[in-house]
This record gives sequence, structure tokens and C-alpha cells, in this order.
Amino acid sequence: MKYDIKQLTLDEKLALLCGKDGWRLETANGKLPSVWLSDGPNGLRKRVKNEETGELTTVKATAMPNIHLIANTWDPELAYLDGATIADECLENDVDVLLAPGVNIKRTPLCGRNFEYFSEDPYLAGTLAKAYIEGVQSKGVGTSLKHYCLNNREFCRTCQSSEVDERTLREIYLPAFEIALQAKPWTVMCSYNLVNGVWASENKWLLQDILRDEFGYDGVIVSDWNAVRSGWRAVKASLDLCMPYRFNHFENVKTAYENGWLTEEEIDACITRLLAFMEKTQTQKQSVTTTKEQRHENAVKIVREGIVLMKNDDGILPLKQGNIFVGGGWFNTCNAYGGGGSAYVQSEYLPQPLHEQLAERLGDKANVFADVLPFMLRQEYELCSRADVAVLCVGTGKNIEFEGGDRTDIRLPIEQEEFIVNCAKRNPNTVVVLNTGSAIDVSAWVDKVKAVVLLGFAGEGGMEALADILTGKACPCGKLSETFPVCLEDTPTGSAHGNGFYERYDEGVFVGYRWFDSKEKQVQFPFGYGLSYAKFEYSDMQIKKLSETDYEVSFTVTNVGDCDAKEISQLYVRDVCAMVSRPDKELKDFVKTSLKAGESKRVSMNLNYRSFAFYSVPLKKWHIENGDFDILIGASSRDIRLQRRIEITLPETEQYTKTAL
Ligand code: GLC
Repeated sequence: MKYDIKQLTLDEKLALLCGKDGWRLETANGKLPSVWLSDGPNGLRKRVKNEETGELTTVKATAMPNIHLIANTWDPELAYLDGATIADECLENDVDVLLAPGVNIKRTPLCGRNFEYFSEDPYLAGTLAKAYIEGVQSKGVGTSLKHYCLNNREFCRTCQSSEVDERTLREIYLPAFEIALQAKPWTVMCSYNLVNGVWASENKWLLQDILRDEFGYDGVIVSDWNAVRSGWRAVKASLDLCMPYRFNHFENVKTAYENGWLTEEEIDACITRLLAFMEKTQTQKQSVTTTKEQRHENAVKIVREGIVLMKNDDGILPLKQGNIFVGGGWFNTCNAYGGGGSAYVQSEYLPQPLHEQLAERLGDKANVFADVLPFMLRQEYELCSRADVAVLCVGTGKNIEFEGGDRTDIRLPIEQEEFIVNCAKRNPNTVVVLNTGSAIDVSAWVDKVKAVVLLGFAGEGGMEALADILTGKACPCGKLSETFPVCLEDTPTGSAHGNGFYERYDEGVFVGYRWFDSKEKQVQFPFGYGLSYAKFEYSDMQIKKLSETDYEVSFTVTNVGDCDAKEISQLYVRDVCAMVSRPDKELKDFVKTSLKAGESKRVSMNLNYRSFAFYSVPLKKWHIENGDFDILIGASSRDIRLQRRIEITLPETEQYTKTAL
């Protein structure tokens, strides 16, 4: 150990349990290093105070694609690349820990921070978060897996209790953390809210019993900023670091210690973890390996694979020639770099507007023009009606999707809906590009346009990547990591948001596609859905039994299109008959395959005990009931291409009596 707890006085130890200021840890009178924590998931957001003026400013950094867009790549390698890219800017700016990634499950599309989270599905979220953490920490910069847990909306996030049954907690809201912990994040950040009536920051069941004792986490637990309600109760629950500095934290903990409410052993457990953490911040740093330009290119590369082609009637895309109008005001998207709040990155990169980028790529085959005064509607409509194709860039941006607030509906702003409808009346060859950070209701206009492309909150690389996709320089391969419902009322919570004291998660495990499938509801665009300029065929499914609960599933994917492309294949499991209510299907593995035009490849994925099990509260463990299971191979959750049924028979002694069916 580089830092010896025996060198610290009691007061120095107690001071260390709380931040020195907004972003730094205490240094025990210089005995310890100064450690700096900074946001955020979509790029470095280092806040610095001007010592003379006291003014707080944000360091300029590369605006990377937002987490939701990374999720739409379904690509752990790109999640890793994103994390490693941001880590280089942390190294350049003396930041020791990046406060990311967030893995909260997208229970409602209303949540203001969905752009910062991965998915409605815990397996996809956890798998990508694990890779992201590995990417950041490969450079010797720490991470903070957040927000632990059940922070699934912004409404009253600092005072409302998320009320959830244990099976739902373990099957839906914990697994993304469980999977991501395999990457050994240096810190885990607790959430603001209460969980079943106890503040997350002092919830010993969550922090000590589950996170530490059951999941084996031995790193630092840090509070969300100002999430600690009682300093000593937080320490007792094994929360190591209260952030930011709180004037009364030292007294609160010292009084508790003097009254015997807190033991020196409990204090030293936190200090030991903090010292081990500080040692990592000083001994594992790697060198910076990317230039500013390379980081920008990495951003473009990730966005290119996260763009989702959601509709493409008559093959109107890719654009090839003719008069092309670009309108809608979001074609340079500085305001759609990302959602608002602590994750918003200040980038100094100004993208070349989309119409100029399209013109460069299409050359003299096309005449691309834009209304340089967006929202001069009369002029926009005039230009739109004269074009062969109209590309409308619309979106929400950081003033609609932001931390600290939820949306009250999921439609585009009414003036944007009207703009799309009016353009489509003037030009049937209308393409809509969405700069949005979460699912939206497109029902007002989707049937009136020929194509819909989900760009997302793409950061500074958005326009280049979009131009590559729209012109066919790159083939779209992104797929949705969250369901687009027909309307808000079809979602599990509709417009409800709790009463400020508590919100019950009445839908249980039926979240996202699990909900829509179990209710047999139509959706606008399903989980796992995304089109390509190519077409794929699936064939020859084989299942190799490795044990009673371990299987290798293989099949052939063929690109029958005429362009090189990538296909994301998904593996779902259905418990045909269970004693508990279970979702119609659940994602258990996925793989992305690059295929040249005409090429076939053999693909394999794996299933293990947890792929089939549900969490049994009476048995206090993950449990497989004997019986039939369907193994489904899908191009999306609603486009199952191959399936086989298997039967699992575990020893009767491991079973309990099932109803006589
Ligand atoms: C914010 C966010 C958290 C962020 C922290 C520091 O309130 O909830 O995600 O990392 O405080 O800005």
C-alpha cells in the first residue's frame, strides 16, 4: 500500500470521508495526493473556478456521441473506444476519475436523462457499460458506475422513493450494474432517491449486503452530489465518499463516533478503500495516445455505427442525385451535441453544415441547397417544393431533454411536427432526421414521409457521420436500444410520475419490450430494430448442448444485398411455461457481423444458467424451473428469423412442486 492508514490522525480520516470542494478529495494535510473527479459520460466536462473572479467555467473538450447513441451501435468495441478516447482528455486535464457511465434502465421515455443511459434492457446496458469502463480505465483513469440505483426519472429524484419488489429489482434494475462490475469500476455512485423508503446513500442492504457482500464490489462508493442525508448513517452503510464538500459532514461523523454510533472499524473500512483508490489514481496512469483530430475521428466513427435507419420507403436513401433540399434548422446541430445538465460537453468544434457535406460527397450529380435562415417557413416550403428530395433535420436538444427534469410528453415540438407535415404535403420524397435523445411519438407524421433516420444526440461528429450514411458512403447498421412506442399512453407508466413521496414500480419486470410484448401492443419501432441498405438472410440454426444449462447457439447470416454491411443479430430466450409471470422473451446475447455483399458467415452465441433463470424470492436465488424454453434468433425483438425449442431437466431435488397443468 502506497498510503498507510496508520499515518493518519482520526480527524484527518474523518475529513477524508467528504470532498474538499466541488470536485476534489481531501489530502490529509498533504499526506495524500489531490484527486480530481469530473463528469461525464458524453465527454470531459471539467468545471474550473477562476481564482480571481470566482467564475466557474467548463474546459473545452471533444463532444462525443451521447451514451444512448453508443447503445444503438450494439458494439462493445466502440463503447471501449469511446471510453478510451474520453480518458485521453482526462489525462490531458489532470482528471483522475470520469463520473460515468450511467446504466439506469429506461423505464419511461419521459425521463430527462435517457440520452445519458444505454437501454431498456439490462443485458445490453450492462454489456456496453462494462466495455466503456474497460476503455476508460485502460488509460489509468477511473470511472463511476452510476446511479445506484432505481433513479429512473428526474421528477423529484432527490426526494421520491422508488418502490420496487425484490424480484423486479434483481431481474431488471440490478443486472446492468452486476455485469458492468466485471470491469471493476474504481467507484460506484449512489443515487439521490430513496429505495423502498431508505435513502440510497445510507441503504445498507443495497450498498453493503448486495453491492459489496453479494456482488463482491471492493471499490469506493461515492454519493451523487448532495445525495447524502446523514453523514454517519452513510458511512455505516459503507458509503466511502460524500461529495461535494459539506460543511457539517465532519461534525456529523465525529459526533456519531464519539457517541458510539459509528465504530473506528467502520470508519477505517472506508478509509482503507479510499487509500487503495488514491493509490490507483497515482500509479496506473498511461500516456495520451490520441490527438484532438483523432478523437474527433473516433467520435465520427462511433456515430456512423449508431445511426438507425428506421424507415426507407422506395429506397429513397441513399441519396444519389438531383435537387436536394436540407431544412429544419438542425443541420449543423451545435445545439444537439447532447442533452442538458452535468453531461453537457463544451466543444469548440463547429461542424460543417449538412448541406455542404452532402454536396461534397455527391459532387456534380446533385444540387444540394438549404435555407440559410431556418424557420423562414415560406421560403423553406418554397425550396422544399422545388426539390426532388427534402431532408428535414429536426429534434429536441438540451432544452427539452436535460438532467433535473422530465418531458411531459414524447412528441416533437408542435411547430416541428407541423413543419414536417407541411413539407411532406409539398414534397412526397421527404426524409426526416431526428436529433433526439430518447424515444419519441412520430405518429403525427411518420406515414407522410418516405424515410426516417435516427441520428440522436451525436456530439461534434454528427454531421459528418450523417452525411456518410445519407449518401451511402457508409451503410447504416445501428439498431434501437429502446422501443419507440406508438404513443406515451402505451408505455408502462404513461404520463404518471409518482407523487413526490414515492412511485411504485407496478409494472414489475415488464419494462420496455418486455411490457409491449406481454401486453401484445403494437409499437412504432421495436427494440433491436434498424434497417440497412443491404438485406440479410438467416439459416441453419444449430444448438450444441454443453451441459444441462449451457448451450452454444450457431446459425448462418448471409448478406443478400449489393453493398457491404453489418448486421446485429439478437438471441432471446422464452420460458414456455413458468410458475411465475415472465416476459414473452428476454435478450440474452447479441453479436454484430460484418458481411460483404453476397457473403455468408457462421455466427455463434452462448447461453448459461442465468440465461434461463428468474429470481426466486422465496428461494432467495436465481432459479430455473424444469421445462421447455424457446431459443429465438432475431433481427429485432419483433423480427424472429430462427427458433428452436429445448427442454431443461435439472434434478428434482432442485425443483419445487409445480401446479398440476
Ligand atoms: C449530478 C448528477 C451526476 C453527476 C454529478 C456531478 O447531479 O446526478 O450524474 O456526475 O452530479 O456533476
